[in-house]
Amino acid sequence: MEPNKIYEGDCRYVLKKIESESIDMVYLDPPFFTQKEHSLKTRDNSKEYKFADKWDSIEEYIELISDSITECKRILKKTGSIFLHCDKTASHYIRVALDKVFGMNNFQSEIIWNYKRWSNAKKGLLNSHQVIYFYSKSSDFKFNQIYTEYSPTTNIDQILQERERDENGKSVYKKDENGNIVLAKEKKGVPLSDVWDIPYLNPKAKERVGYPTQKPVSLLQQIIKLCSDENDIVLDPFCGSGTTCVASKLLNRRYIGIDLSLDAIELANKRLEDLIVSDSNLLKNGIDSYVGKSEKELGLLKSIGAVPVQRNSGIDGFLQQQINGKPIPVRIQKDYETLDDTIRALDNSTQAKNTDVRIIIQTNDSRGLFQLDTNAVVLPSNELIIKEKLQRITMYIGNGGDLQKIGQL
Ligand SMILES: C[S@@+](CC[C@H](N)C(=O)[O-])C[C@H]1O[C@@H](n2cnc3c(N)ncnc32)[C@H](O)[C@@H]1O
Repeated sequence: MEPNKIYEGDCRYVLKKIESESIDMVYLDPPFFTQKEHSLKTRDNSKEYKFADKWDSIEEYIELISDSITECKRILKKTGSIFLHCDKTASHYIRVALDKVFGMNNFQSEIIWNYKRWSNAKKGLLNSHQVIYFYSKSSDFKFNQIYTEYSPTTNIDQILQERERDENGKSVYKKDENGNIVLAKEKKGVPLSDVWDIPYLNPKAKERVGYPTQKPVSLLQQIIKLCSDENDIVLDPFCGSGTTCVASKLLNRRYIGIDLSLDAIELANKRLEDLIVSDSNLLKNGIDSYVGKSEKELGLLKSIGAVPVQRNSGIDGFLQQQINGKPIPVRIQKDYETLDDTIRALDNSTQAKNTDVRIIIQTNDSRGLFQLDTNAVVLPSNELIIKEKLQRITMYIGNGGDLQKIGQL
């Protein structure tokens, strides 16, 4: 079968047409046994995409998984690997099926794809991860180590100094025969772990095409880089909107996609003509890039019991308590802002939000030309109160005021 194409049909039959040991890597994202039909409309509501995930029994579902992975094993090269994406619903059954087909000894990792979710309609813990099982076909599998940055808490000695085990098996810093510390060889960073923080596609992401359960291209890029090289063939037997094919093309790999749905194939082919990937600030700049508040601002918010919000240009936080069931937004006057600017910024950000009470923390005495009227509560910061008081005292003394009365100012 030719690569760089998407084939229509039930993957269990289509896979049989692929030559044995001809594929370098497989990623599959089958239905998760959710017992529902997934559907989603495109942003302009012009089209609805659907796929079914309803089963008579878990046995029927696992038969699909087992049959597909058995074929995948046949077509994988000896150096090849398989990544199976699932969630808590059936992961325990799927892992057993993978053990049976690939062998427990070829299990490599259980990757936890961790992403942020903000709300939970159901009673219980907020679900914020999915699982990707990584098995190799043999012990001779292709693996490209990926390094990540050291965390800000990493001890500098751990980076710069070589370690070894002492006679009790304890890890210690290595010393030479003269008792001097041995410097470590150049380190490239921390080897990628099995917990991946990659953002879920947000509803406004450029890359979102309106296919239900669409996965982010960045997630697929990381998987593909790990176990394949340029020009290798990557296969996705449940390719949906073609995320794996898009990621493969971007990384100069060849791809084969398969899906039951003609609609999905048409969409995937369209995506492949016009490759769109959303930039993720979280991935590019790390989690710290989201923490846009200074220590001073965080301290001020904490002092009034407010929870900071990041990534909003007009609101810095919300009070923990509400009034009349409505949230209370807080804005801190910035050093470069007049009070007018602060009022305007808060007004703009809260217009569409249902709020009765709004709070401004005033941090400087520059009011602005218009002295805008506001129904926001303006609270001077402690720093401003002290500064104004000191100014008054200085002026009072300068004007020959009675030193005995300073305390009353
Ligand atoms: C979870 S979605 C894949 C989403 C995809 N990873 C993406 O990012 O868009 C599962 C896909 O499997 C397809 N599918 C279900 N059963 C199939 C089968 N037996 N053979 C091939 N495709 C199948 C569905 O049509 C659906 O598109």
